[in-house]
Amino acid sequence: MVACSAVMARVWLAFCQLFFLFTSTPCLDVSQIQVPTNDGISGVLLVQAKNNVYSFNATTAREACEAIKMRIANLAEVKTANQNGLQTCRFGWIEEQIAVIPRIERNEKCGQNSSGVTPWRANIRAKFDVYCFKPAAKEDNGFHLGPE
Ligand SMILES: *[C@@H]1O[C@H](CO)[C@@H](O)[C@H](O)[C@H]1NC(C)=O
Ligand SMILES: *[C@@H]1O[C@H](CO)[C@@H](O)[C@H](O)[C@H]1NC(C)=O
Repeated sequence: MVACSAVMARVWLAFCQLFFLFTSTPCLDVSQIQVPTNDGISGVLLVQAKNNVYSFNATTAREACEAIKMRIANLAEVKTANQNGLQTCRFGWIEEQIAVIPRIERNEKCGQNSSGVTPWRANIRAKFDVYCFKPAAKEDNGFHLGPE
């Protein structure tokens, strides 16, 4: 068990250094990302760390989406998703480097009792979840969420 995780750590470190070499971006432990298993709403998904703790700063948030073959969502996309029913109680980074929380119903514990897409102009070092955008698959198995 101990030996196993030591090997895993070495493999991870090697991968991380290689990644850094090519992209010059800080490393992100992909194994700690909770990969959503659905298509989200209008392509927008809340992505968080496996331990449910706010874990991404404005830089690693973007990387987290790319690491799971998506891209970070922008404000317009989150607004569309919100209009189509997306509501969470978690702040997440978006493309514009602000943290937002999409709400439909007001809740004093979520986004300061606001509705709509509420921005939080946090320091880019602050840690939140991230809203990723999953482009619609060109070819699919016939399953559709509905018109955009
Ligand atoms: C939350 O919003 C509702 C609806 O606008 C309002 O009635 C309520 O007083 C608000 N609660 C707080 C704590 O501001
Ligand atoms: C974000 O976190 C990464 C990894 O911990 C760190 O290298 C980077 O400097 C941070 N960026 C910001 C803007 O805080």
